[in-house]
Amino acid sequence: MQTFGSVDELRRPLAEWRQDQVRVALVPTMGNLHEGHLELVRRAAREAERVVVSIFVNPTQFGPREDFASYPRTPEADLAALALEGVDAVFLPDEAEVYPLGRSAATRVSIPGLMDDLCGRLRPGHFEGVATVVLRLLNMVAPDVAVFGQKDYQQQLVIRHLVHDLRVATRIVMAPTSRESDGLARSSRNQYLTAEERARAPALYAALGAVAAGLAQPGASPGALCDAAMASLREAGFDPEYVEVRDAATLAACAALDRPLVVLGAARLGRARLIDNLLIP
Ligand code: PAF
Repeated sequence: MQTFGSVDELRRPLAEWRQDQVRVALVPTMGNLHEGHLELVRRAAREAERVVVSIFVNPTQFGPREDFASYPRTPEADLAALALEGVDAVFLPDEAEVYPLGRSAATRVSIPGLMDDLCGRLRPGHFEGVATVVLRLLNMVAPDVAVFGQKDYQQQLVIRHLVHDLRVATRIVMAPTSRESDGLARSSRNQYLTAEERARAPALYAALGAVAAGLAQPGASPGALCDAAMASLREAGFDPEYVEVRDAATLAACAALDRPLVVLGAARLGRARLIDNLLIP
C-alpha cells in the first residue's frame, strides 16, 4: 500500500493504472476508520481493481460551533487497517493541497434546495463544504467509481446531484448502512456517547423502524407516525431534530406513498448528534 500527500505524486500510479485499463474506486473518508468504513472499502474492491482511500478532515463542512478541532484523528491505526484490507493507495492531503487558494478564495459547490433541507437546515453550510471537497477529490483522483455509505443519505444525494449536473465521469455507489449488533448505525461520533447513552442510542433506529412498519399499514399517516417517533425519542432522553418521511429520489415531502420512500431522523444524545435512515422501496 502506497501513501501520498500530494496529488501530483498520486497521479503517477493513477496514470499507470489507467494505461493498464484497470478501474479505480475511491472511498473518501475523514479517517478515524471503523468497521463501517472498511465495509465501504470492501465494496470498492468489488467495484474496481484498484482502491484508493482518501483521509482528510474537511474544515469547510464543519460549522463554527462544531467539532472540527476535536474530531478524532487516528492516522496510524487507519493506515494499519487499510493495509490489512489490501488497499492500493491512501491519499492524505493537507489543507493546502485540497484548497490551494485558501479557504476564503475557494471555488464552492452549492445546490439550491437540496442543501438547505433536513440536516442542511440544521447545519448551515455543511453540504456546501461536503460537495466542495468531494468534487475536489473526484477531480484529483478521477475514479471510475466512488463509494459512500447510506447512513449519510442526504450527503449521497447531494453528491449524485453534483456528479450528474457537472458531468463528472464517476459512478456513485451507495453501500448499505453498517450497524452494530443492536442496530445502531456505525459512526465515528458514536464514541462521544457515554456508556449509558450508548445503551439508549439504538432507540433512533427503533423509532425509524416503527415509522417504516407503520407506513405499511392501510391508511397510514406519515405525519402522525413521525410525531410518534419524535415523542418516543424524547422519552428515551434524546433531543430529536427531525423524523421525516421523504421521496427517496429527491427528498421532496411525500404527497403519496406509492413510490420509494426514505424515513430519515436526526437526534442529539449527550455530546453526539446521531443520524440514521431506512429506505422503503
Ligand atoms: O462522509 C464523510 O466522511 C465526509 O462527509 C466526506 C464524504 C469524506 C467528505 O469530507
